[in-house]
This record gives sequence, structure tokens and C-alpha cells, in this order.
Amino acid sequence: MSSTRARLEDVLVSDREHWLDGPPHDLFAQMRSECPIHWTARITDYPDEAGYWSVTRAHDIHAVSRDWQTYSSELGGVTAVTDVFPLELMRAMFIGMDPPKHDRLKMLFQAGFTPRRIAAHEGAIRSIVTDVLDRLDGRETCDLVTDVAQPVVSRVIGSFMGIPREDDAAWATLMNSALGAGDPDLNPDGVESVVSKDIPEIFARCQRMIAERREHPTDDLTSVLVHAEIDGNKLEEHEIVMGFFLLVAAGNDSTKATYCSGMRALMDHPDQRQLLLDDPSLVPRAVEESLRMYPAFSHFRRTATIDTELAGQKIQAGEKVVMWYVSSNRDETRYEDPHRFDVRRAGDHQAFGAGGRHFCLGAALARLELKVMFEETLARYPQMEPAGKPMMVESGFINQLKTLPVRLSPV
Ligand code: HEM
Repeated sequence: MSSTRARLEDVLVSDREHWLDGPPHDLFAQMRSECPIHWTARITDYPDEAGYWSVTRAHDIHAVSRDWQTYSSELGGVTAVTDVFPLELMRAMFIGMDPPKHDRLKMLFQAGFTPRRIAAHEGAIRSIVTDVLDRLDGRETCDLVTDVAQPVVSRVIGSFMGIPREDDAAWATLMNSALGAGDPDLNPDGVESVVSKDIPEIFARCQRMIAERREHPTDDLTSVLVHAEIDGNKLEEHEIVMGFFLLVAAGNDSTKATYCSGMRALMDHPDQRQLLLDDPSLVPRAVEESLRMYPAFSHFRRTATIDTELAGQKIQAGEKVVMWYVSSNRDETRYEDPHRFDVRRAGDHQAFGAGGRHFCLGAALARLELKVMFEETLARYPQMEPAGKPMMVESGFINQLKTLPVRLSPV
């Protein structure tokens, strides 16, 4: 944390300059204390985009999240930038719908994602993790993002969706460039290529899987989408494709992000790692603390449906309202010493959303994956250490490392 204070009225929160090395925590602390509902006038990389309100404190975000009638997910998309993804496609995913359609579609999946149902996958997830770690045998160094996190999360969500194992890497590349659209490494062809190249490829690949399941129903989640009926109607083709995209994208990206940031924090704080080595029953707490400190999505966004007021600030119908989870998770009115990584902290957080209708469907799966990944990595490589400069994705939306070089055991 540096101590430079910004002139808040001039600050454009999502501009790239603030995100080159992860979220601007100083700036958010200043906003929480001086201007908790803050106006960003424009988004420099996207000159045609409207500005937005930033909501930075936990209880205000909770209020926005719960009030879907005033703050819609359907009206204008769910990220600060509307332009990257055509709105019509955003609205085909239940993350971009409002009730009642949102609730009906989400309900089709919810039964399979309860903590109890997810717990039944622990053995399968553990064997995916140990298989991936086995591939490191004989190596001195690796990159935790590409060599461990990516193959694990791709296979876990791939097995839920019915993706053949040999297609995992291709799907991961597509998802990384779609979600990290503005990052020159994840998406070297530039933002326009998401619509011109990646989305058509996602559709083509997905349509093949859909056709197979129409013919031969299976018990994977792709089949659930293909055969879903809402009020007696089947989903349209683009709704099935985008439902598939939502699950694969959410499953691919976020768990990978939290695992890598959490492992980095454990290497940077050997005292905290030692606590876990001495008492592995603390791992679930370390998972929650990693989610709090490094939420995989920096923000989600809503659009005001009516003229309203939030914490004394007037907001007009049609304006964008951005909930910054990277800020609320370090709200000093909620957490003592919020920037300290403390695996014993027993705190709630908003990494999975703030209690509203769109609360993360995959929270139980993500928690289980993270627990198993931390347990197995720590058991095998208790003294892992950094071996080069980690780099963050340049994004105000996905909060994740794109590279985390490590030495597996000290020399
Ligand atoms: C560390 C891991 C994860 C984090 C931090 C995370 C976070 C989030 C957040 C913040 C939201 C949106 C809440 C809002 O509207 O503000 C969300 C929604 C969602 N997540 Fe996750 N997620 C994770 C893992 C997963 C996994 C593994 C899946 C697998 C299926 C998943 C599926 C979804 C879906 C389908 C939604 C949309 C829910 C809705 O609109 O009702 N997530 N997640």
C-alpha cells in the first residue's frame, strides 16, 4: 500500500493504469472513506462506453446485490464494460437475467451444486489434482498457473460438462481470451477478436456437443441445458451455448485465480503456511481468507431500473452500478487489519457475491476444489518458493495471476 492520495473526482477507476499490478487497494481505501459511491466519467479503453457508479463498502454492495428490482442484471450486462460481449449473448446466460427467468433456469442446476452433492465428488477431484501434481515429478520448477491450476480446473469443470479430456486445453484458451479480453498475453489478437473469432469457435464447438446430446442424452450438465424446459419451452440454441459458456467460464477461471493467489500468499507468509502444515484442519479457513483477500472477480455490475438513492447518492434510471468486491472484502469497518493475510481469520466475505439472487452457483464446488488443491500441494511441496516475478492479468474484471513461477523444493 502506498500513501499517494488521488483527486477522487478525476479518477477513472477501471482505467488500465490502476490495474497493472492487481487491484488499486489504496485507491479503494480512499474511496471507502471519502466517497463510497463514486462516479467514473468514462472508460478510456472503450470511448463509446458510458461511465458508472462505483460501490465500495460491504453493506452498500449487499443492498445493491439483494435488490434486483432496482438493480437489474438484464438491462445492461453484468460487467462495467458492456461492449466486449454482445448484450444479447449476456442475456442468454442466467447471470445476465432477472427473475423470474433467472430463478427458473438456475434452479435446474442448483440441486447438483449443494454442498452435500458436491462433497460426493471429493475423491474424483483429489485424483485429478494428484494426477496433475504427478506430472511435476522430476522437475525443479514450474508455473503454478499453467502447470497446476489450469489443468486441474479445466478437468474438473470439463468432467461436469462432459467435455472430452483432450479438448480441455482448447477450451481453456478460448475462455482465457474471452474473459481476459484486454490482456495482451491472454488475448494477443485484441478485444475485437473475441467477437470475430472466439465466440464463433465457442458456438461451433458447443453446437457439436449439443447435437450429440440431442441424439444421445447423457448425465452431464450440457445435457441438462439441452433438455431443460422453462414454462414448457426448450431453451433456444444460443441460450444453451451461452449457458454452457457461463458454466465453463465460471468454473475455469475463478478457482484457478484463487488457488494461485492463495499459494502466492502462503509462500510470501511462511509463518501462515507453517500454521497449515502443523494443523491441516485450518485449510478451509485458508481457503476463505484467500477468497476474501483475492476475490477472483474484482466486480460485477448492475443497471438502475428507476431513479433511486444509495447511501445518500442519487442514481438515475439506466446508470451503471458497479459492485467492487475487491474493495468490500477489505472494508475496514468489517475486518480488523484488512490487508493482513491471516489463515485463522473466521470472516465472511463477498467473493461469491453479496447475498443476492446471483450468488455463485459453484461456491461449494470451488471451496472443495480449493481445499483439495491446497492440501495436496502443501503435502507434496511444503517448502515451495517463488522463482521469478509473478504477473497479474491486466484487467479490472478478472483478478488473477497469469504467471506464478515457483521452485518446487528448496535446492
Ligand atoms: C473461487 C471460485 C469462484 C468465485 C470467486 C466465484 C465468484 C462468483 C461471483 C462473484 C458471481 C456473481 C455474483 C454477482 O452477481 O455478483 C458468481 C456467479 C456464478 N458462478 Fe461463481 N465463482 C467461483 C467458482 C465457480 C465455479 C467453480 C462455478 C461452476 C459451475 C461457478 C458458477 C457460477 C455461476 C453459474 C454463476 C451465476 C449465478 C447466477 O447468476 O445466479 N462459479 N460466481
